[in-house]
Amino acid sequence: MSGSTSLVQERPATTTFDKRQLRNVLGAFVTGVTVVTTVDGEGKMHGLTANSFSSVSLDPPLVLWSQASSAGSHAAFRDAERFTINILAEHQYDLANHFATRSPDKFSGIDYDVGVDGLPLLRDCSAWLECKVVSRFPGGDHVIFVGSVDCIRQNARRPLVFGGGQYLVADPHDLGVAPLGTQGAMKSQPHAVRLASRAMLRLAHSLDKTLALVAWGNHGPTVIAWQAASTPVAADLPLGLVLPVTSSASGLALAAFLPPEAVDRFVTAELRDNARQMSGEAPFTKEALAGVLESVRASHVATRRPRPFYDDRALANAVSVPILSPDGLPVLALTAIGPVEHFDAAADGPCAEALRTAAHEISAALREA
Ligand SMILES: Cc1cc2nc3c(=O)[nH]c(=O)nc-3n(C[C@H](O)[C@H](O)[C@H](O)COP(=O)(O)O)c2cc1C
Repeated sequence: MSGSTSLVQERPATTTFDKRQLRNVLGAFVTGVTVVTTVDGEGKMHGLTANSFSSVSLDPPLVLWSQASSAGSHAAFRDAERFTINILAEHQYDLANHFATRSPDKFSGIDYDVGVDGLPLLRDCSAWLECKVVSRFPGGDHVIFVGSVDCIRQNARRPLVFGGGQYLVADPHDLGVAPLGTQGAMKSQPHAVRLASRAMLRLAHSLDKTLALVAWGNHGPTVIAWQAASTPVAADLPLGLVLPVTSSASGLALAAFLPPEAVDRFVTAELRDNARQMSGEAPFTKEALAGVLESVRASHVATRRPRPFYDDRALANAVSVPILSPDGLPVLALTAIGPVEHFDAAADGPCAEALRTAAHEISAALREA
C-alpha cells in the first residue's frame, strides 16, 4: 500500500529466523481446522488435529495435508491406505485441543460414526471428506499426503477458524456485500463495530476500564456495546442506554463531528432542561458548548466532569474518542468510564492516548477498506 499511513506496526524483513518466528508469520495465513482420522492394520483408530489441509484439484478430486514425522500417529498414517478429513465446526475447539494432544486412546468418550473401511467420522462437524491415499511426499520434517476424494458430506454448521495461534470464528466481511443504496458514514459502521469490538476487548484488559461503544441513534448517543473492567462501573450495564449529547463524553465526541443540523434539536432540549434544573449555577450555553466542541475537534478527545453514572450510585469519569468514516463523519464513539477515585480522565492522559490510538487505527482501516 504505497502512500497510506497505516498505524499497524511492520516488522523488518529478515533472512535469519527461528521456528517460532516462522510459525508466527505462517499464523497470518488463516485456515480452517480439521481432525484427520484413520484406522491401522489392527483396527485401532488414530486422529490428529491438522490445519495443513488444502484442496489440490477438482477434476480429479484431490486434497492434501501434511503430518509431522514426529507425531505419535505418524506410522499409522504412513502405512494407511485411507484417511478421512473431518472439518471442524465453530463449537468444536475442545475437540481440536483434544486431538492435538497425545493420548493412547483419543476416541474414548468421543461421538463418531463409521465410514468407508471403518474410518471414524466425528459427529457434528461442518464437512467430511473420505479419501484414498494416492501419493506421499517427503516435506522436511513433515510428510505430505495426497488423497483422492471418494465421498463427501456437509452440514450447515459454520466452520472453526485458526489464525495467529488462536481459534477464531468466521463472519462475512461487512463491506464485501454493502447493501445497495447505503452510502457515507453508515456504510462503514458495521465494519467499524467489528474492529472496535476487538479493540474494546484489548483496551478493557490493558486499561482495566469499562468501555462503551456508542452510535448515533434516533434518540441521540446510544450505547451499542459494553466491555466491563474487572470492577465494572455499574453492575448491570444496559445496551440501548441513551446518553446526553451535551454532558456525556460520548455525546460530545459524536456531536463535535456531526453536522450541526443533526445535533441541534438534542442540544436545544438538553440546554433547556438543564437551565430548568439548575438553581444558582450559571447555565451551560450554546456558545460554551461551541467552544467545547471546537476543542474536541482539535484534540479528538472528549471528557466530562465527574458526575453520577447511569444509576446514580457512583461518580464516574469518562473519556471518549470518535471513530471517523472515510468522509470524516463520526460512525462511533469509543468511551472509557471509570470510578472518579482511580481514573485519570485528562484529555492528554494515558487512557485518552490509548483510546485515540485505537480510534485512529480503526478510522485508518475504514479508509483503506
Ligand atoms: C490448530 C492446530 C493445527 C495443527 N496442524 C497440524 C498439522 O497440520 N500437521 C501435524 O502434523 N500436526 C498438526 N498439529 C499438531 C498435532 O495435532 C499434534 O501434534 C498432535 O498431538 C499429534 O497427534 P499424535 O501425536 O497423536 O499423532 C496441529 C495442532 C493444532 C492445535
